[in-house]
Amino acid sequence: MSNAMWGGRFADGTAEIMETINASIDFDRKLAAQDIAGSQAHVAMLARQGLVDAADADAIASGLAQVKGEIEAGTFSFSRALEDIHMNVEARLAEIIGPVAGRLHTARSRNDQVALDLRLWVRDAIDGLIPEIAALQRALARRALDCAGMVMPGFTHLQSAQPVTFGHHLLAYVEMLARDAGRFRDARKRLNECPLGAAALAGTSFPIDREMTAKALGFDRPTANSLDSVADRDFALEALAAAAIAATHLSRFAEEIVLWTTPQFGFVRLSDAFSTGSSIMPQKRNPDAAELVRGKTGRVFGALIALLTVMKGLPMAYSKDMQEDKEGLFDALETLSLCLAAMTGMVEDLTPDPKRMKAAAGAGYATATDLADWLVRALKTPFREAHHITGRIVALAAARGVALEKLTLDEMRSVEPRITEDAFAVLGVERSVRSRTSYGGAAPANVRRQAKAWLKRHGEP
Ligand code: ARG
Repeated sequence: MSNAMWGGRFADGTAEIMETINASIDFDRKLAAQDIAGSQAHVAMLARQGLVDAADADAIASGLAQVKGEIEAGTFSFSRALEDIHMNVEARLAEIIGPVAGRLHTARSRNDQVALDLRLWVRDAIDGLIPEIAALQRALARRALDCAGMVMPGFTHLQSAQPVTFGHHLLAYVEMLARDAGRFRDARKRLNECPLGAAALAGTSFPIDREMTAKALGFDRPTANSLDSVADRDFALEALAAAAIAATHLSRFAEEIVLWTTPQFGFVRLSDAFSTGSSIMPQKRNPDAAELVRGKTGRVFGALIALLTVMKGLPMAYSKDMQEDKEGLFDALETLSLCLAAMTGMVEDLTPDPKRMKAAAGAGYATATDLADWLVRALKTPFREAHHITGRIVALAAARGVALEKLTLDEMRSVEPRITEDAFAVLGVERSVRSRTSYGGAAPANVRRQAKAWLKRHGEP
């Protein structure tokens, strides 16, 4: 038997393997709500334009409402033979209201239909992600305010570099996440044009009103070119690119949580709520959630690369390759949402260990730059020379196996005779961090101001 939806010119049915490779209903059923919303807008427009009479339009609209109810209630039976969500919905509509259901597809194709459904889904996903990003930023900013003066080592090359504060470190992620939210907002703006009415690829001979459907579905305007309307998946690529960058940020943070919770670092502790044990080693507390956030990044990148690859060879306009746009996209944006929630949970859960952080902040001659800066300020030494002198003092301390401040004044003077007792004051980590008052620097006063400003902008007193 040939296909009921498009089988007019076909004598026979499709091979079983053809049905298996062709069907998308197992994953595009996720688009049911969007598909029905699009059809409701389309039929209302057809009626207003006199392309479907009012009674038929009413029958279609209430039939669609019933289909929607069945899908929501879980009583709808999806059929692989009907390929995709579009034909599953339409076939059920025909069962409910009879042949008049066939009028719904006037001036429309599955090509503009799927382009519409996917845009609506991505738009909803973006609208869900933006507040989830803000929730993580809020958790970070609150923590940053509490920990504005909590000294920790700042690293470059994962070597102790200069002291910073835990609050300053957390605010770095607030900035990254602000750019992530910005990228999603920006993608949403370009996404928000309605492809419905492009039909298969060339537009339609019926006098449709694309402004009306665009407006009804919350779009800013209809898309301008019918070929582009059905061939474009930039909106999905942009959302995936934004997601991939956001996932990179979360992965870096997750990596830091993994490091910080080791007994070797011991900078933070996760409670039992965010730790798992080992089935063989009773002492273990593993940061599995952080590791999974780091690990799940791979799927998000994969989805972006997969869709770029699907799209790169496609001639205008629609090709069935594009059906491969969905699974990775759904998974990637849902994965990002899960990872944001898990990171928010961990930021709220973790307990920093200020003693361990402070001890580590002083290790590795982390205030050597402060000494060099002192030579510049107090002795007017050019910075390059001050750097060299300090290097020799560090070498001396290293040879003696002591911290910089444990050298005697005479030992320091053996390298630079003009050094005075005052130099010792700059070697403490607290003082070092307090001195970083340049705009955006690590000084606790800066951190407090920035954390407060963020919280205030987002509605906290
Ligand atoms: N299931 C298809 C997709 O996801 C819908 C569009 C099919 N269009 C077509 N001409 N076969 O892309």
